[in-house]
Amino acid sequence: MSDPVFAVIGATGVVGKQVIAALLAHNVEPDDVRFLASERSAGEELDYGEEPLPVEPIGPDAFRGVTAAIIATPVADAKALATRLQQEGVWAIDLTGAFRGDQAVPLIAPGLNDGLLDRAFTGRIVSVAHPVTQLIVSALEPLRAEWGLMDADVTILASAALYGTAGVDRLSKQTAELMNAKEPDVETFVHRLAFNLIPAVGPIENGLAQLERHVLVEAARIWAGDAMPALTTTSVLVPTYHGVLATITAHVKRPVDADAVRAQLKTSPALKLLDVPADNVFPMPMLSTDDASIHVGRVRAIGQRVQLVASIDNAVRLADGAVELALKLAER
Ligand SMILES: NC(=O)c1ccc[n+]([C@@H]2O[C@H](COP(=O)([O-])OP(=O)(O)OC[C@H]3O[C@@H](n4cnc5c(N)ncnc54)[C@H](OP(=O)(O)O)[C@@H]3O)[C@@H](O)[C@H]2O)c1
Repeated sequence: MSDPVFAVIGATGVVGKQVIAALLAHNVEPDDVRFLASERSAGEELDYGEEPLPVEPIGPDAFRGVTAAIIATPVADAKALATRLQQEGVWAIDLTGAFRGDQAVPLIAPGLNDGLLDRAFTGRIVSVAHPVTQLIVSALEPLRAEWGLMDADVTILASAALYGTAGVDRLSKQTAELMNAKEPDVETFVHRLAFNLIPAVGPIENGLAQLERHVLVEAARIWAGDAMPALTTTSVLVPTYHGVLATITAHVKRPVDADAVRAQLKTSPALKLLDVPADNVFPMPMLSTDDASIHVGRVRAIGQRVQLVASIDNAVRLADGAVELALKLAER
């Protein structure tokens, strides 16, 4: 039997490039990958290890021979692409959130609820939870499972990379403009991000910023069937390029101490505990860069209240989980 073939749609973007790195890390051969993007990137090449491979536009034959495709395009393009992939018998792993509210499409937080894929579902589309949802639910789940969770309040400090290549480029431009005493161009973000903090990631509706709404919808689906804690979030866009750091305050159902919390966090394979306060060892995006695991630390506990911080490389976390799903689905 021939090897499965994997397509990366949106290969030139922040997430697409990390999907490519994850395919390489999983030793997928150059002959077994296809890189696709918009017409703008036609003719470009991207390195796959030592080998430069072409980036192709999505023509009529784009998915011929492809087993599974990972969609990392703007959300507006995702539904049509996923539908076409499904019609052509290709697994579609959607990273855009286009299906987050669609109960017919499994929503997977890798390492947390992959078991959903073992249950019957129709179609060939799978949606991957936002990396910030993955961070929050993964960090809280060990507490919920051991002591029960009443509520959690999370402040999400998110970098420009959550706005894709446009966000990263815009922050660079604004920083250079300000350093050169020029008025910066306020595009991409709703205000200047350079040397500023913006307390809402995405447009606000009914009091909640877009990222906050996405997290609540996804957390409710992932915890469906289990007791969902009352979850509140505040998202803040910070002038860094990559990574997310979240501060979490939760109330568990029994009094706990910090050592018990640390021991419990260590039981989760998704988490990496970095917590030596005396040596200033704690999670930071600088340390989680290029690491798919979720770093947790600064654990404090008084009575039933637990506080901690968690950090991820958003694009790497999203991409790595997506590739693991694609490899699993390709075996079916
Ligand atoms: N960044 C994150 O951490 C993050 C987190 C959660 C979810 N997501 C979602 O993941 C998706 C990708 O995000 P990103 O940050 O990687 O964005 P990005 O850096 O802007 O990349 C977008 C990619 O999509 C391609 N593209 C644009 N229009 C297309 C079309 N009509 N057909 C095919 N490809 C097209 C672009 O190709 P060209 O270079 O040719 O324009 C580029 O490769 C988005 O839906 C985003 O909401 C991202």
